[in-house]
Amino acid sequence: MQILVTGGAGFIASNFVRYMLERNPDISIVNFDLLTYAGNLENLADLEKNEHHVFVRGDICSRQDVEALFSEHQFDAVANFAAQTHVDRSLMDVTPFINTNVLGVQILLDACRANGVNRYLQVSTDEVYGSLGATGLFTETSPIKPNNPYSATKASADFLVRAAHESHGLDAVITRCSNNFGPYQFPEKLIPLVIANAMEDKRIPVYGDGMQVRDWIYVIDHCSAVETVLRKGKPGEIYNMGAHKDVPNIEVVKSILSILNKPESLIEHVEDRPGHDRRYAMDSSKIETELGWSAAHTFGNALETTVNWYLDNRDWWERIRTGEYASYYEKLYGNRGKHCS
Ligand code: NAD
Ligand code: TYD
Repeated sequence: MQILVTGGAGFIASNFVRYMLERNPDISIVNFDLLTYAGNLENLADLEKNEHHVFVRGDICSRQDVEALFSEHQFDAVANFAAQTHVDRSLMDVTPFINTNVLGVQILLDACRANGVNRYLQVSTDEVYGSLGATGLFTETSPIKPNNPYSATKASADFLVRAAHESHGLDAVITRCSNNFGPYQFPEKLIPLVIANAMEDKRIPVYGDGMQVRDWIYVIDHCSAVETVLRKGKPGEIYNMGAHKDVPNIEVVKSILSILNKPESLIEHVEDRPGHDRRYAMDSSKIETELGWSAAHTFGNALETTVNWYLDNRDWWERIRTGEYASYYEKLYGNRGKHCS
């Protein structure tokens, strides 16, 4: 079985490629990635000599790149992870999000149709549902109500995938996962940012009151969920994925500081993110009961494993935290105004 994985030099898909190759000697993976600021070949260094893994640099927004890829390789399945993924960046400039997360998805869908690919899997997000109140869970039939430009583009892609299935009979499935954490996560996202800042005794920016709730899942559990849907999901269906671990941001930050034995005085409440979703929490009962998947890792253990990975791989994130990333961070806080406490 040959699988096309897009975005495989990024956080989740680099874990997914490794996860799949470790467990499935019968599959090979073509990994197609543009290597944007978030794509990093160091994430795949241990797979360099693996004969079941081929890396191809290219852009899912380029029909030319995608057609060349499909003319060179035959795919049994496509798993599209490639995306622009950071909400704060989408608030500053949505153009690359529209290109990759919307146009790029349509180009992949067209290529799958033209080449008779048996299964297309779109990696989507719980953020397409918008925000929950104090209670309740997102189910697959919850209304699509994205509140920020990133989630609006991911929701648009989900509609295009649905249309490709309904109009053209493409065998397509959509996975909607909650917030991931684990090794190789780019240190602009909350958990790696807090770990890296704490290790360097830098202030930790908590947006607003820090009582926003996210449903955290260890990246390896997301990988196993994607494999499950790739193999067993029903065409045209959507599957929510979460680990039943809803935690306010401020508690996540304090847990990391406690693991690292760093003081809570590093925490600095800053102006809130515009359109900030208050609470995400997933009902994953469909994938659990219909496909037999469940998350295997507990939040506490996985958080410790993750912190240890960042302690052991300081070079990896230190290199990232210079250059382009540094100027982005200045711009973010320039736009956002002064810290509020
Ligand atoms: P990431 O930002 O770490 O990696 C994205 C990867 O896509 C990078 O390697 C980048 O180079 C590549 N890419 C970007 N534009 C491309 C293009 N035009 N052509 C080819 N490659 C391109 O992202 P991530 O956090 O690993 O997220 C992966 C997927 O999972 C995304 O689709 C995201 O929406 C989804 N998701 C993420 C989370 C999360 O918590 N991080 C949760 C649910 C769903
Ligand atoms: P993030 O990791 O950006 O993921 P997402 O926006 O996709 O959920 O943010 C997770 C939560 O942490 C979100 O509620 C925003 C908040 N946050 C902070 O409070 N401070 C930060 O510096 C960052 C990056 C995020």
